Amino acid sequence: MSSSRRDIMKIAGAVGALGVAGAARAQQAGAPAAFDFGNPSDFERELKIVNCEWLEEDAKKILPPWRFAVMGPNGDGWTYRENRRAFGDYPILAHRLQNVDDKAIDLRVQLLEHSLPFPMIVCPMGAQGTFHARAEAASAAGAEAAGTLFVMSGAATLPMEDVAKAHPGPKWFQIYMNADMEINRWLVQRAKAAGFSAIVLTADALGPGQSDEYIRLGRPQPPGAETPGNHDPARGGRGVFRNFKRNIGFDDIGFLHEASGLPVVAKGLLRADDAKQAVASGAAAVWISNHGGRQMDGVPASISMLGPAADALGGSVAIILDSGVRRGIDIFKALALGANVVSVGRPVLWGMTAGGSAGVKGVFTQLAAELKAAMLLSGVAKATDIHRDFVRYKPV
Ligand SMILES: Cc1cc2nc3c(=O)[nH]c(=O)nc-3n(C[C@H](O)[C@H](O)[C@H](O)COP(=O)(O)O)c2cc1C
Repeated sequence: MSSSRRDIMKIAGAVGALGVAGAARAQQAGAPAAFDFGNPSDFERELKIVNCEWLEEDAKKILPPWRFAVMGPNGDGWTYRENRRAFGDYPILAHRLQNVDDKAIDLRVQLLEHSLPFPMIVCPMGAQGTFHARAEAASAAGAEAAGTLFVMSGAATLPMEDVAKAHPGPKWFQIYMNADMEINRWLVQRAKAAGFSAIVLTADALGPGQSDEYIRLGRPQPPGAETPGNHDPARGGRGVFRNFKRNIGFDDIGFLHEASGLPVVAKGLLRADDAKQAVASGAAAVWISNHGGRQMDGVPASISMLGPAADALGGSVAIILDSGVRRGIDIFKALALGANVVSVGRPVLWGMTAGGSAGVKGVFTQLAAELKAAMLLSGVAKATDIHRDFVRYKPV
């Protein structure tokens, strides 16, 4: 094992062990000696999930407050709340008496070259060692058990190769671009070698999301746990946000495609004109997202921007929607407005906190059951047949 890799593993392990070692390490790093980092969860158990909102309450009871606050929204949380509220702008115009048999309900969809059992994938989310001792290995194993695509964050706790082992199935790698383009080239080539089949370029972040609550708590950072997973100290430093490329542009889509030989997915777009330009610049899919309200407060809900983007793209590429998806009916509405799949964010972290990989699988089982019920009661058998007529649509 190389020294850098040993270092990374030590750091990843430290995230789980901070309850014991936290105070001493914090002192070394100049953090207040009294700060109690507490432990991430290490649960591995089946959950009885009734809905995602209540799962969030369970996760909140399990995690120390600062760990939970890492998931919080930016600013005063207007966009975060809007992500939920705006689903209410699109009531479902359910058909009745359509002779749909529940055995005929078919949730399967295609996303790039992947056949998925349902129209849901896992969002890239960084620093998962904050929440669970097994970090991304737990969420990747949960996605694997559910049979769906896992998107690995470029700001992960664990190295991408370790996560690839936990998820032999379909997986993409998300990149936060470095100002040093050779580091970007090295990262995406490494991802390809590890078995990741697409690169996700996140377009809506200038650093780690930090909620006011997290800042009020003093931005507690377990020393060394700053998303070390994919960074080699020999190649520009450990922290993914240390030498962040701030001037990312449409030309970076072409760069990443050329450097990796993989399809590139543009994540964090809201505007229809940006979506069109991303596709013209070579994006293989467009991901409508506002980062779950974690990056820039004041932008519209993702679901509000989906219809116009889908109209502009006219089915030319796949569309992914995230931010605020918590219910099967949310997925139904997203498909009706033009998404091919939704991506699930925080509920995966809540499921992981409460139940490890089994909890993550449980989130997808529950959302799939809710979607199935919504389809049955709307008279549509195939997820791919859910179209615009199924919602009352008003473009914003
Ligand atoms: C704790 C946390 C960490 C995240 N880290 C990343 C990341 O590393 N890269 C990225 O593209 N998005 C990241 N996101 C954003 C998610 O990919 C996704 O856009 C968002 O969580 C969707 O909203 P939802 O949580 O309301 O479902 C993160 C989100 C959370 C909650």
